[in-house]
Amino acid sequence: KRHLISAADLTRDDAVLILDTAEEMARVADRPIKKLPTLRGRTVVNLFFEDSTRTRISFEAAAKRLSADVINFSAKGSSVSKGESLKDTALTLEAMGADAVVIRHHASGAPYRLANSGWIDGAVVNAGDGTHEHPTQALLDAFTMRRRLVGRDAGIGQDLSGRRITIVGDVLHSRVARSNVHLLTTLGAEVTLVAPPTLVPVGVGSWPCEVSYDLDAVLPKSDAVMMLRVQRERMNAAFFPTEREYSRRYGLDGDRMAKMPEHAVVMHPGPMNRGMEITAEVADSDRCTAVEQVANGVSTRMAVLYLLLGGSEPAVTTSAATTN
Ligand code: CP
Repeated sequence: KRHLISAADLTRDDAVLILDTAEEMARVADRPIKKLPTLRGRTVVNLFFEDSTRTRISFEAAAKRLSADVINFSAKGSSVSKGESLKDTALTLEAMGADAVVIRHHASGAPYRLANSGWIDGAVVNAGDGTHEHPTQALLDAFTMRRRLVGRDAGIGQDLSGRRITIVGDVLHSRVARSNVHLLTTLGAEVTLVAPPTLVPVGVGSWPCEVSYDLDAVLPKSDAVMMLRVQRERMNAAFFPTEREYSRRYGLDGDRMAKMPEHAVVMHPGPMNRGMEITAEVADSDRCTAVEQVANGVSTRMAVLYLLLGGSEPAVTTSAATTN
């Protein structure tokens, strides 16, 4: 059975196949009728134990564009608040015939547990687990970088060899950073993490990337600069960095952005703390791909669901668009 739990599980060929399939899906989005019949009769469950705007809506849109039935489950307002376990929740979903379960959970490892428990038969997709991984975010980020740095058509079949990507900020609490480090290096990119010493994870020395504490020195050598949200909800209040001090050392403002090469892009997975890790001037500039990343997330998640559930049939044919 196939699942998507960690970006570290993907080979270079797996990742390029997903990005190429996402390009096919994006062409469907350019058509007047945006739907494919590929997953008709299949059921995708969005199982969200933690808040989300982009990921949940994006998976819902992706599944619906592939004609799957979608069940949205949010822990808030469910029997989880009465103490129901992950196992009993999973068994309930299994009884409803879930072909895929997209799970976001505050506990690192919850998607792995679900995939290997025997509680459900369907494919499991990790939509963010604790501070561990967020593989589809890394895939949509890589898709966005490949389009911007290699080209939409020129990028087909290509990876990100030789591109220099800088990831800045609260790496300690960031599942986005961890998944991106794994995926980007698998795709041949050189990754540098820039963070305050207190927000660098113990064990980062074993990650396949460089670590710097000097953002201004790294910016001129970057093809893409990914700003991370400072995740106060995962910090002890005593360790909150002050907004002023943090943004002075590690925030991206217009003056700092001017140090980047002209072709380089600014990325942010969202949600943003405007004024903390990124100024409004940078967030709203043409060089910032945050909104483009959200749009690309739908095509990327269509590709993931298609490859996990649809598999053998062609994803897109000239007559495949449907009004259903
Ligand atoms: N980037 C991201 O995961 O956003 P959400 O938390 O809104 O899903």
